[in-house]
Amino acid sequence: MEKLVSSWFNDQPLPQSYIFPPETRPGNHSIPRCNCIPVVDLSKASGHDRTTIVQQILTASREFGFFQVVNHGVSENLVNDTMNVFKEFFELSAEDKAGVYSEDLKRPCRLYTSSPNYDREKVHLWRDNLRHPCHPLEECIKIWPQKPTRYRETVAAYSIEAKKLGLRILELVSEGLGLSSEFFGDDLSESVILSVNHYPPCPDPSLTLGVPKHCDPNLLTILHQGDIYGLQVFKDGEWIGVEPLHNAFVVNIGFQLQIISNNMLKSAEHRAVTNSEVARTTAAFFINPTDDCIIEPVKSLIIADESPAYRAFSYKEFLLNYIPTMGNSEKSLEPFKLHA
Ligand code: OGA
Ligand code: NI
Repeated sequence: MEKLVSSWFNDQPLPQSYIFPPETRPGNHSIPRCNCIPVVDLSKASGHDRTTIVQQILTASREFGFFQVVNHGVSENLVNDTMNVFKEFFELSAEDKAGVYSEDLKRPCRLYTSSPNYDREKVHLWRDNLRHPCHPLEECIKIWPQKPTRYRETVAAYSIEAKKLGLRILELVSEGLGLSSEFFGDDLSESVILSVNHYPPCPDPSLTLGVPKHCDPNLLTILHQGDIYGLQVFKDGEWIGVEPLHNAFVVNIGFQLQIISNNMLKSAEHRAVTNSEVARTTAAFFINPTDDCIIEPVKSLIIADESPAYRAFSYKEFLLNYIPTMGNSEKSLEPFKLHA
C-alpha cells in the first residue's frame, strides 16, 4: 500500500526510481496538442451516412490507429457518475483501499501501482491502477470494490454501455473490412477488462511517465480520458497530443486487430504524460479475445500475391510474451511474425 503513488506523492521531489533514462523521458511534455486525431460522429452511423462513417473509421484505423467518437450513445450522466466514482475510489482512506490493494498478479480485481513488473522494472511509472474483469457481469461484480458504495451499481451500468459501444464500433470495422457483421462477436471480444489509471500531480513531468510507450495487446480499447490532457500518440516519428474532447471516447486499435487485418489496420504506440497541477483519472475499457481464442490473419484480407504476416497463436500465448516486453511494438510481435 505504501508503494502507491497516491499514498506519498505530496511529501517529496521526484524520487530517483521514477526518473526515466534520457532517451525515453518526455522532456517538453506539453508539445503539440492537436485536433488531428480524427473525430467520428457515431450518430450518423444509423442513417444514410453509414458508409461515410465506416470509411472514416477505416481510414483513421489505418493511418492513426486512433480516433475519437462523439454522439456515441452512452449517456453523459452515466459517464460523469462513473468517472466521479473512480476519482472517489482513489480518494478513499488508506484503510479502505488496503482491502483492494494486492501485489498478487493472479488476483483478478486489484489495486496496484506502476506496472505488473514493479519488483523487476528499472524505473517506476507515475500511476496507480485499479483493474478488474467485467464479463460475465453477474460473476465479476461480486469481486469488485465495495466502496464507494455506488461503485458496483454505477460501474455495472457503465460496463454494459461501454461493451455495447465497443461492439458497435467493431461491427462498423467489420463492415469496412468486408467481413460479416458478427465477425468480432463471440470469442474475439468476449473478455472485457476495466483498467482505471490514476496519475497524481507530479513534481517533474519532464522526467517521468504515467504509462511509457506501448501498444495495447487486446482487440480494441475504449478510453475515457476525462477533461485533462495527458495522452500522446506516436505517429511518423513524432509524439502528438490527443486533445481531450468533452464527452468523447478515444478508441484505439489493439495488436490483435492489427494481426487479424494482416497489418491493414494499425495498432499505434502511445503513452501517458503527467502534469504538475491536477490529478488525472482515466478509464480504459479493454475488449479482449478469450485466452484460448486462436488469432490469425483473415484469409480474405490477404491481398492477392501477399502472404499472411503472422502465424496462428492463442491469445494466452501472445500475452505471455507481451507482459515482459512492456508493449514494445517490435518485441511483442516478433515471435508471431512469418518471414516471407
Ligand atoms: C492504457 C493507456 C492512456 C491514458 O491504459 O493502456 O494507454 O491516457 N492509457 O491513461
Ligand atoms: Ni494503452
